[in-house]
Amino acid sequence: MVYSKSQNKKEMSSNFRINSFSEYRKDYKRSVNEPEEFWNEIADNFIWKKKWDKTLEYNFENADFKWFQGAKLNITENLLDRHLEKKGNKRAIIWEPNNPLEETRIITYRQLHSKVCRFANVLKRNGIEKGDRVCLYMPMIPELTVAMLACARIGAVHSIVFAGFSSSALASRINDAQCKLLVTANEVFRGTKSINLKAICDEALKDCSSVQTCIVYRRAIEPTSMVGGRDKFWIDEMYKVDDNCPAEEMDAEDPLFILYTSGSTGKPKGMVHTCGGYMVQTAYSFTNIFQMKSHDIYWCTADIGWITGHSYIVYGPLACGVTTVMFEGIPSYPDFGRFWEIVEKLRVTHFYTAPTAIRSLARESLDYVEKYDLSSLKVLGSVGEPINEEAWHWLNDYVGKGTCPIVDTWWQTETGSILISPLAGITPLRPTFATLPLPGVQAVLMDENGKEVEAINERSEGRLAVKFPWPSMARTIYGDHKRYIETYFSTFPGYYFTGDGGYRDAMDNFRITGRVDDVVIVSGHNLGTAPIENAINEHEAVAESAVVGYPHDIKGNALYAYVILQDGFTKSPELEKEIKNTVSKLIGAIAKPEKIQFVTGLPKTRSGKIMRRILRKIASNETDFGDTSTLLDPEIVETIMKEKV
Ligand code: WTA
Repeated sequence: MVYSKSQNKKEMSSNFRINSFSEYRKDYKRSVNEPEEFWNEIADNFIWKKKWDKTLEYNFENADFKWFQGAKLNITENLLDRHLEKKGNKRAIIWEPNNPLEETRIITYRQLHSKVCRFANVLKRNGIEKGDRVCLYMPMIPELTVAMLACARIGAVHSIVFAGFSSSALASRINDAQCKLLVTANEVFRGTKSINLKAICDEALKDCSSVQTCIVYRRAIEPTSMVGGRDKFWIDEMYKVDDNCPAEEMDAEDPLFILYTSGSTGKPKGMVHTCGGYMVQTAYSFTNIFQMKSHDIYWCTADIGWITGHSYIVYGPLACGVTTVMFEGIPSYPDFGRFWEIVEKLRVTHFYTAPTAIRSLARESLDYVEKYDLSSLKVLGSVGEPINEEAWHWLNDYVGKGTCPIVDTWWQTETGSILISPLAGITPLRPTFATLPLPGVQAVLMDENGKEVEAINERSEGRLAVKFPWPSMARTIYGDHKRYIETYFSTFPGYYFTGDGGYRDAMDNFRITGRVDDVVIVSGHNLGTAPIENAINEHEAVAESAVVGYPHDIKGNALYAYVILQDGFTKSPELEKEIKNTVSKLIGAIAKPEKIQFVTGLPKTRSGKIMRRILRKIASNETDFGDTSTLLDPEIVETIMKEKV
């Protein structure tokens, strides 16, 4: 390695970590007034093979953003090599299997380094070079992390496809990125189910001529059909190489990975993230939001197939040298106490999860939570959708016992790292508010005329945009820069448009209420569906709800609510009336749903997001639902249609 010795030994310096609210204010101000100086200092905390010539060059019109140009680095030296001297024997990953009877695996930083280098040599031996795309379609096992970092080690670009996607979704992603190699496992375990991943890959690969090699990790002992010449077992390949693999020298702006995210129309967008800026900001945000101490244990329950897993199971935590937990299973297996059992067993201190998981657990008996010792917990986190009041308080009261700050983190696949969030123990909290932007993030609300909303009111509303580039932003949509410009930079020229709406309170705290296409105008009144859902969920009989708009002769639009009841409640006209009255009471008569349909489930994507697009169409008596390949349970759509009110 060519970096200086002093740099090698250097830990993150004091300017990297914010310790108080006044420091936050100071750093935020500085990041706005002198953004380049601010990021220079933050970026100085990493291992670079060569420093940058220019901190930032950008042009909003062409959506052209370059951070740390001229710098050379390899991100894996920052995640692994850097820690070997002082933290070589520290646990990098604690892996918890789907089945609690199977053994926990522990992988130290030194072991992870060795495995990554070895697998990097496997990739090289199979013809993978810098810039080649490698698809990873794997369960939540440590080998997924090994494979992604092995790609980064040699400068190959990983494209991870969530292992719940179908063969056609996998094939279209492989083809879009023209991946040369696919890494998979023979089986994936989720609760009582086991799915033959390799068979799905075989199906997908029939349509993927770019893939020359498929490497298969044997997760289960089941016999696995292998295609001669193309398919190779992970373990056989690992024996053929050693663990000496120098880190490829990458430009800061070279691509690190592609990750697909669904758009409101058309095919999924392959968001491209680059090496330098992504590394700097994921680590910076991780450190400051979670505020971990050296012996703390961090657990993010997301799947690595989503951006949350990329940035906050792997890249952010490992760059900071902490212990990160990886869980293969689901919250309901073997029972609804699984999360809490793991927290007790591993003495988890930082627990980062999604509102949808919280709501599903809050429906069940409290015994599942109270049975376990959760006293190790210090910080709780939420991500992925607006967290409703009920879920926030349940998490706070029963999991955090009122002593753990909840960081409600707002961000997107496109943003690479968290942009708006409290810093644990530092930022004053307000339930359901993501609160304040991190230093370096110039978040603003825009009105419908494209003007910034001034924060003069108790409550200012608008569409969320960002008015200055940040290092971890996606640089393009793979193979379609035009779509990148149109989607994110054309609504408000000179700004990045998030597609979300929200408001700010008098203290400047952001509350992100959801996609702006979820806003319904009823009798000329702007109504966000999320607050209405929150109100409906306040009724004791309601477990979950989704509200959409549909055309109405007199009001323009009216509201249609789909409601799942708690166990022990049955639908009735009285109950319907009570729910409507709850909304009236909490928001106002204007927000009362016109129609309520009681359902047993909602159409959700595999990552747990409700597909409101489909619900809107059902409510509007439309039957062309477009692409439903990302639905977890397509049958629920039929059922809801049949029982439409
Ligand atoms: C929503 C997930 C409110 C938002 C990291 C965003 C949130 C979309 C929050 C991105 C939050 C995420 N509060 N809404 N704390 N976090 N969202 O790309 O609508 O899967 O635009 O990234 O999730 O989803 P994505």
